Amino acid sequence: ARIRHYRWEVKYEYKSPDCYKKLVITINGRSPGPTIIAQEGDTIIVDLENSLLTENVAIHWHGIRQIGTPWFDGTEGVTQCPILPGDTFRYEFVVDRPGTYLYHAHYGMQRESGLYGSIQVSPRDGVAEPFDYDYERSIILNDWYHKSPSEQATGLSSTDFKWIGEPQSLLIQGKGRFNCSKLTTPSLDPDACNQTKPECAPYVLTVIPGKTYRLRIGSLTSLSALTFQIEGHNMTVVEADGHYVEPFVIKNLFIYSGETYSVLVKADQDPSRNYWATTSVVSRNRTTPSGLATFNYYPNHPRRSPPTVPPPGPVWNDVESRLAQSLAIKSHQNYIHKPPQTTDRLIVFLNTQNQVDGRVRWSVNNVSFNLPHTPYLIALKENLTDAFDQTPPPTGYDFVNYDIFKRTNKTNATSSDGIYKLQFNTTVDIVLQNANDMNINNSETHPWHLHGHDFWVLGYGKGKFDIFNDPRNYNLENPIMKNTVAVHPFGWTALRFRADNPGVWAFHCHIEAHFYMGMGVVFAEGIDMLKNLPSSIMGCGHTKGFHRP
Ligand code: C2O
Ligand code: CU
Repeated sequence: ARIRHYRWEVKYEYKSPDCYKKLVITINGRSPGPTIIAQEGDTIIVDLENSLLTENVAIHWHGIRQIGTPWFDGTEGVTQCPILPGDTFRYEFVVDRPGTYLYHAHYGMQRESGLYGSIQVSPRDGVAEPFDYDYERSIILNDWYHKSPSEQATGLSSTDFKWIGEPQSLLIQGKGRFNCSKLTTPSLDPDACNQTKPECAPYVLTVIPGKTYRLRIGSLTSLSALTFQIEGHNMTVVEADGHYVEPFVIKNLFIYSGETYSVLVKADQDPSRNYWATTSVVSRNRTTPSGLATFNYYPNHPRRSPPTVPPPGPVWNDVESRLAQSLAIKSHQNYIHKPPQTTDRLIVFLNTQNQVDGRVRWSVNNVSFNLPHTPYLIALKENLTDAFDQTPPPTGYDFVNYDIFKRTNKTNATSSDGIYKLQFNTTVDIVLQNANDMNINNSETHPWHLHGHDFWVLGYGKGKFDIFNDPRNYNLENPIMKNTVAVHPFGWTALRFRADNPGVWAFHCHIEAHFYMGMGVVFAEGIDMLKNLPSSIMGCGHTKGFHRP
């Protein structure tokens, strides 16, 4: 195994990823940041210098379980203090499993200002994967806002609540196209929005006729659920969140924020032309135009437009097809990790939108989550009991009387920074229950992401989860393991995981605004097994001047 050492300078720069110029958070001048390419067992060291001048930062290594290094999970408020402007922080962790992962900012709402990238981990030498391909590419899909993270966060947390709205454009590997004639406040700067800039020319995926490509596709959208398709080509799904999938063929891939997939695509169509690769919003009534890339057959000119109209993908409100894809994802038959057949504990999380103290919030079992000022990891290890609410939040809701199809009562939620303590080495079941939000007949899709673990996806269902009957239909034979999973509108999703990774771990909706508005929880397990924490994660809240000898 090797050590891969990176030096990253994080700073704001003016960029025009969708032709509209705005401040973008870059790593060494780039957004998306550099792809970390490593091999199973390698140690990644990132020396991160915060050159944002007036903002803190933290980076989360999404999908990396941080076994033995929970303090380098990069979750501000949970595992570390924020990295101050001018400071350099060292992340050091092992990538212990092959697969496709992501990294992104985990401070405030910075993720969607461009601070993100991919992590590709290949298997150890001599270990084959259960599929073949000639070449591979990493592609991150993203939605893009012209407002700054502080403007968005301020709007969401003020009493005259201001929703972030739909994104201005969709980016494929950092490139999109905003129609500058739609600008509401025209600018005198000719460079402010300029569709002829090479910087916002569509992403080009060049392929050699007859070859097979592994596309490692990740979504780091702020809000949107997406569909991705390549005109005239099928895709075979082979990996999801670092686990091999029993292959299945699709025309379009539904992908939710925080998920990664590998799909195989064969360049087997008429090679005399180029094709569109497109991504579009699903699950919300789309107002954002599709993101476009060129699937370029070598040796056609990469800028030659395909002769066709870009495929729009499925209609936005086709929940059935999305549920069908979720259900199709099973573990590859030669790589099954069988889940424990029984559980030690069941926690049901009802997802609702509420109003708390006059602000719109999201809640879990009627508790809206607040991040504390002292990171839990330090507070728990050092026994700082006044650092957060010691009362654990509820582990269920009123199953009998709560009508998930009814508009939420606005005033029945509270907020808290309490957490769930899990008994070390036990099996935990989580059922995520979706419900109607504050609008009539409306329920959204929420992609939930668990830090520090992979979970088995035991089942999905429609309506209210039936605690007695639904578990009988769980897939205990070949469930896929993932770290991010969708909860479909008016439906439920059931997961199982082993609480076997000492540390403190966030579990939250990966929609950036939803987490910011309280849609998350925190699990702690095995804290007494941890050795001394590195002093680099300390310095904020109750940990000021906290240094171990
Ligand atoms: Cu990718 Cu806590 O998130
Ligand atoms: Cu959500």
